Amino acid sequence: MKLFSFLSLLAAATALPAANDLAPRASISKVNGLKFNIDGVTKYYAGTNSYWIPFLTNDNDVDVIMGHLKTSGQKILRIWGFNDVKTIPGSGTVYFQSFSGSTATINTGANGLQRLDAVVKAAEKHSIKLIINFVNNWTDYGGMAAYFSACGVSSNAQWYTTTKCQSLYQAYIKAVISRYRASTAVFAWELANEPRCNGCQTSVLTDWIRQTSNYIRSLDSDHLIAIGDEGFGLAGDGSYPYQFGEGLDFAANLALPNVSFGTFHLYPSAWGTTNAWGNAWITAHAKVCAQLKKPCLFEEYGVTNAADHCPVEGEWQKTSLAAKDAGMAADLFWQLGDTVKSTGQQTHNDGHTIYYGSSDWTCLVDKHVKQIG
Ligand SMILES: *[C@@H]1O[C@H](CO)[C@@H](O)[C@H](O)[C@H]1NC(C)=O
Ligand SMILES: *[C@@H]1O[C@H](CO)[C@@H](O)[C@H](O)[C@H]1NC(C)=O
Repeated sequence: MKLFSFLSLLAAATALPAANDLAPRASISKVNGLKFNIDGVTKYYAGTNSYWIPFLTNDNDVDVIMGHLKTSGQKILRIWGFNDVKTIPGSGTVYFQSFSGSTATINTGANGLQRLDAVVKAAEKHSIKLIINFVNNWTDYGGMAAYFSACGVSSNAQWYTTTKCQSLYQAYIKAVISRYRASTAVFAWELANEPRCNGCQTSVLTDWIRQTSNYIRSLDSDHLIAIGDEGFGLAGDGSYPYQFGEGLDFAANLALPNVSFGTFHLYPSAWGTTNAWGNAWITAHAKVCAQLKKPCLFEEYGVTNAADHCPVEGEWQKTSLAAKDAGMAADLFWQLGDTVKSTGQQTHNDGHTIYYGSSDWTCLVDKHVKQIG
């Protein structure tokens, strides 16, 4: 710290090029072939998910956690950029958008999007790159279901195809993008968390993804755009996740011109597959990404049995990293855990959580970051 400020002073005084090299200039993240270019560096990247960090109410808590990610060599952090409610909670509780009658109101107050501002600011400070997600398929933090009565529908399938739902959703997207349009801390905008349309023709989601990615591109010509899906619907062993029944066609969606890279998740216990099955799931996606010449992000993965965290997820990380010249660009485990400084409380343990400073962290973060180099 001392050394750095001394050199910065020196750089300011004499403009030594060597001192400038110490901190790469922040820039908007890009795709470079089958990889990501972050702040000018093209390589494989590691990161994690924290749905909860925008819901913390203390700026310093956010800053401390971002600092932990930085010192651990974690680069990409995926967060919930939504928090939709149908009933306005008590004053201390964070929410971003509320629905009443046929209208939606975006909360730009201190317990609203200002919390997301604090996350973006801390990410800028620590050179962490954020994936900001706009809506949940699931009902956690509201989701598409929170919009239902305002836009007169009763299912996710209708939500994707009903103009009123989509105009409310797009208004929310616009409100978020306009706040961080120029930020180098935004890695990508993301359409939804795990969008599905069970039993629908895959054209329903493909059309919605085309429409939404084009809309985002019309607002922001620079930042990357991703879907946030589980990666269902592609050639493989024919087991449930490879099937098209959840309304997803991985290759058709990734081929859309304003989708910048592919996303997929991995939860064998929820999908009725084995943990070892996950390795072929990773390479199957890499193959499609390589064919379509877009990078693949292994965006969420987890096993609930704590004893399996390190061996099983460590194996998946190796498989992904081994495909770094064949379509895989980065992986983000689900999910980050830490101790909130102001309260001394640990963040949500959903069984998948990997806590900063734990032995799982040593294995799945420190070791992995070292392997990446
Ligand atoms: C997510 O989407 C799928 C498919 O439409 C649906 O079956 C599931 O119920 C959704 N989740 C929620 C909570 O709506
Ligand atoms: C991407 O989105 C922009 C902005 O909406 C649109 O003009 C363009 O046609 C889209 N790209 C393609 C190739 O469809």
